[in-house]
Amino acid sequence: MSKVTDELRGHRFDGIEEYDNPLPRWWLGIFWISIAFALVYVPYVHMSEGNTIHDEYAADMAKASELMAAQKIDWNDDELKAYCTGSESWKAAAKTNYDGKCAACHRADGGGLVGPAFTDDAYIHGGTYADIAKVITEGVQEKGMIAWGKQLKKEEIQDLACYVRALRGNKVENPKAPQGDVVAE
Ligand code: HEC
Repeated sequence: MSKVTDELRGHRFDGIEEYDNPLPRWWLGIFWISIAFALVYVPYVHMSEGNTIHDEYAADMAKASELMAAQKIDWNDDELKAYCTGSESWKAAAKTNYDGKCAACHRADGGGLVGPAFTDDAYIHGGTYADIAKVITEGVQEKGMIAWGKQLKKEEIQDLACYVRALRGNKVENPKAPQGDVVAE
């Protein structure tokens, strides 16, 4: 702690006088160190190669165009089916997305709620892997089904299509009545 002195600064304003008490050294130390730190930090973190606002903009735009491209995916049913039935590598990632983004309307077990059930053999928009992936990608706006192609990557939608298709045939309690047309296996 710096020594407190009772020296006056020697100027007066409206009859008020001020003591000349310097700021504590530790306080001044932090003050100058903060300034020195900022002089290094700001150029390095915000202005250096790859970190400028222009770079951030370019990265955001690249991500956006990737997501927009996802809205126009030309799903190939054979490829998607081979992917879904070939292994269950999609399961864990799809479950996380399904539980977080779809279960609110389609129920965690696929029994249907606001949206149709996935456990029966009827589909409103077709029951092939490609049909399912297409609805997930493009949504059904007027019915409240979101176009997930705007928010999810192609791989995530692909995994979700596998997950939804795999729910077919599951026996669940109180499923919503089948909607749409029955599609043969
Ligand atoms: C806000 C509610 C809501 C959410 C969230 C939602 N859906 Fe839907 N979904 C619907 C509705 C409503 C329909 C029925 C559309 C229609 O009647 O044409 C539907 C239809 C579908 C269909 C077509 C079913 C058929 O019978 O053809 C699929 C597949 C689907 N959703 C998958 C998903 C997936 C996967 C997610 C999560 C990524 C999801 N939905 C999230 C409301 C929702």
